[in-house]
Amino acid sequence: MTDSWSSWDVHLDWQPDAGRQGLADALRQAIRDGRLAPGTIVPSTRALAKDLGIARGTVTRVYADLTVEGYLRTSQGAPTRVGAVSSPLPPKEKPHAAPWVPGARWDLYPGRPDLSSFPREAWVAATRRVLHDAPASVFDYGDGLGSAVLREALSRYLSRSRGVLAEPDRIVVCGGFGHGLAVLARVLHARGDRELSFENPCLPQFREHATRAGLHVAAVPVDEQGLEVSKLDSPAVVVTPAHQYPLGVTLAPERRTALARWGGLVIEDDYDGEFRFDRHPVGALQALAPERIVYAGSVSKTLAPALRIGWLVLPRFLVEPVRAELAATGWHPPVVDHLVLADMLSSGAYDRHVRQRRIAYRKRRDRLLSLLPREITPVGISAGLHVLLRLPPGRSEEQVIRAALRESVAIDGLGRHWFGDGRRSRGIVLGYATPAEHAFGPAIEALLKAITP
Ligand SMILES: Cc1ncc(COP(=O)(O)O)c(C=O)c1O
Repeated sequence: MTDSWSSWDVHLDWQPDAGRQGLADALRQAIRDGRLAPGTIVPSTRALAKDLGIARGTVTRVYADLTVEGYLRTSQGAPTRVGAVSSPLPPKEKPHAAPWVPGARWDLYPGRPDLSSFPREAWVAATRRVLHDAPASVFDYGDGLGSAVLREALSRYLSRSRGVLAEPDRIVVCGGFGHGLAVLARVLHARGDRELSFENPCLPQFREHATRAGLHVAAVPVDEQGLEVSKLDSPAVVVTPAHQYPLGVTLAPERRTALARWGGLVIEDDYDGEFRFDRHPVGALQALAPERIVYAGSVSKTLAPALRIGWLVLPRFLVEPVRAELAATGWHPPVVDHLVLADMLSSGAYDRHVRQRRIAYRKRRDRLLSLLPREITPVGISAGLHVLLRLPPGRSEEQVIRAALRESVAIDGLGRHWFGDGRRSRGIVLGYATPAEHAFGPAIEALLKAITP
């Protein structure tokens, strides 16, 4: 049905006394269930208000909310239509694809911090200071390695907080870890490498960067002690030693030593190293062999992924090839944002924000784990923004993901992270950081409904 409809044509689970929220929920549900297909013209606000016997202003506000959420789309001079929101069932041909639902009401999909906690005041204050003091030259194309001021500030921050040997001239500021990895993969291919190892399981989108660069992707198993270093057989490996993603284990001390002594190039993805809750975090591996280990980090978990700022602390022999590869792709860093971040690092505002977030995420993790039914087991150390949950026998990952979607909760499954041969246990990967503070309780309630047998 792509023509307009009235409330007589489409079942809306709505009562006149449910108000604006009730009408919005009923429309969301009808769209998610497919009763209102993408592209369907919705009635005018006047027509629906008349049809339902409610104020036109209520319908106008509901339409505005649903447009922001992507359930509806408007364009000037054209009727309002239903947007392209995914159906609740994962697509059949990709049973382990990410069950990402843009319209899910409760966002426990891993990978992002609480976006509502972005330190807007601190960012604005730092921006003001930067713009007040900066010479006109900051508005020019900047140094391809990233602003020198930011590299100095990162050098101090990374050596203090993570023990990284981070002289500014070996730091390259890139557009997040994914960008840095894509560039490194092309540099490795250009030096003659044909294979890059990844932990199995790991995030598929990062493996794709290697594949796109022409590298074969090799799977190295991970057990309770982290990466099985003795099984490495490639010129280079990407690893998450402080907090394996997605299993959540940490690399055991003897394996850290073995990896630092291993002859290949190690790319250390320290994506959430700031968030260890039960003890001081282990320092970066990079300090053990700075000429063979690339240290990589980003602000995607501490501040916001939208900033697209990350860094590589490189062995010296890689600085020039990485700079040249970045230049070849036309990369120019966002200099003003670099200066704002540098200001936040130097003023202590970044540390204050991270400290406050660490407390908040720890509380969330503890609360979530305390509420889990007994037959569901959390795996991994007390750290980060996600947790892996093992399911009891007889409950499949797909069943739980579908049940969660019925409650409008977005979660991820472990299945899609495996590749190659080997063990393929199943589970649920939950991100507990993303909901705004007020939404965390209801999100957990909805999740518990879905996962409790
Ligand atoms: C394992 C892992 N590494 C790195 C990142 C950060 O990626 P980026 O800096 O490209 O946002 C993430 C973000 O989700 C992640 O989950």
